[in-house]
Amino acid sequence: MMYVTRREYFNAAHKVYNPEWSDAKNAEVFGGCANPNWHGHNYVLFVTVKGEISKETGFVIDLKKLSQIIKKEIIEKVDHKNFNLDVPFLKEVLPSTENVTVAFWKILEKPVLDMGCKLHSIKLQETENNYVEYFGE
Ligand code: NI
Repeated sequence: MMYVTRREYFNAAHKVYNPEWSDAKNAEVFGGCANPNWHGHNYVLFVTVKGEISKETGFVIDLKKLSQIIKKEIIEKVDHKNFNLDVPFLKEVLPSTENVTVAFWKILEKPVLDMGCKLHSIKLQETENNYVEYFGE
């Protein structure tokens, strides 16, 4: 089994807050991420797939095609957008890095399978120091 990773970039705005809490509690828990007038991050997305090496190509997956799928299904929908307002698949989702990563998994799982591989992990880096990684469970 071989693991292959594609990296992509996007910028997006969000506000992480729980509407059931007071402004003070949101500020205490989420800090700057609860700023009422939004803020942005330069996200780095790592999509790792796993599969066997093809005898014909020597590839596990055609990374050009994987990149096209990530761009079409994810990047075009979130880049320069506001997670809270502009992205249909994040409606009703508290847009923490964790929840956004789970939403990306749900979108990419099937297209990756259709390319003959399995989605292994999605890593989403929100800042230089913080990232989350999801393995589908
Ligand atoms: Ni934030």
